[in-house]
Amino acid sequence: MMILIHSIKFIFESRLEGKVAIITGAASGLGKATAHEFIQHGAQVIIADNDTQLGPQVAKELGPSAQYVECDVTIEAQIEEAVNIAMTKYGKLDIMYNNAGITGPIIPHSITELDLDEFDKVMRLNVTGIIGGIKHAARVMVPVGYGSIICTSSISGLLGGLGPHPYTISKSTIPGVVKSAASELCGAGIRVNCISPAAIPTPMSLGQVGKFLPGFTPEQIGEIVSGLGVLKGAKCEGIDIARAALYLASDDSKFISGLNLIVDGGFTCFKNFVFPSPDQSA
Ligand SMILES: NC(=O)c1ccc[n+]([C@@H]2O[C@H](COP(=O)([O-])OP(=O)(O)OC[C@H]3O[C@@H](n4cnc5c(N)ncnc54)[C@H](O)[C@@H]3O)[C@@H](O)[C@H]2O)c1
Repeated sequence: MMILIHSIKFIFESRLEGKVAIITGAASGLGKATAHEFIQHGAQVIIADNDTQLGPQVAKELGPSAQYVECDVTIEAQIEEAVNIAMTKYGKLDIMYNNAGITGPIIPHSITELDLDEFDKVMRLNVTGIIGGIKHAARVMVPVGYGSIICTSSISGLLGGLGPHPYTISKSTIPGVVKSAASELCGAGIRVNCISPAAIPTPMSLGQVGKFLPGFTPEQIGEIVSGLGVLKGAKCEGIDIARAALYLASDDSKFISGLNLIVDGGFTCFKNFVFPSPDQSA
């Protein structure tokens, strides 16, 4: 009987009971999957997204623990307002997940033709937007000496060539932003970490890969994106990122700060030498 009670408690354990979270870019893809997971674990979640059609729909779908707030992370005042709404409604902010990001244009491929205005737009959203989220979350977390800030980077930030230059450069910057912020905020009891996901079928990745493979159906492109991993018998899914974020958001990771949690099934940990085959020796 005791074992049964313990098992039931484990299954229904709420690792974020009573916590308040903001997730940027939560109207779709990985942010939405994480919002769902956080709510399953007892959190109140603010869906901070600039999609004013999808955002309210997703909040409704996720139920009364979700609230939509219009927020374009390229506009600092809107990030500030999202944090202020959390404070007014709940009196605190425990978790800030700076997840919103874009790939930017995939053409031109060459850095010799890079449009620097387009580059700045990607940096403004993927990097400055994240810094704005850290800034305003820290503003309300520092006085209480508690909080978990999470950011979404990418495996494209670990290796060149997996994405367009602006995306790769912006994502490679995020682990540095995290370390810089963590270096100060650890003194205030606040943890700052990031997650680097592998390729996962979401509107973003399907849209990007679809541009290279115009003859393929969305289902086929989804299969192709899912098949890009190297871990036998597994594929990277939104739930894998949601669970990584749950870990970093919860007190399970209470002594972890400054980490780049790579969720890629080993994809970026090796590269093979290409040797000539034995029959090429003569
Ligand atoms: N899907 C992947 O393969 C993959 C891999 C690695 C990293 N990532 C990263 O994960 C994050 C989420 O991507 P996704 O795949 O879920 O994409 P997605 O396109 O499904 O979702 C992105 C969300 O961000 C929102 N958004 C866009 N611009 C915004 C802005 N200015 N302000 C606020 N919200 C904005 C969109 O409305 C959308 O709801 C991004 O940072 C992305 O770079 C994705």
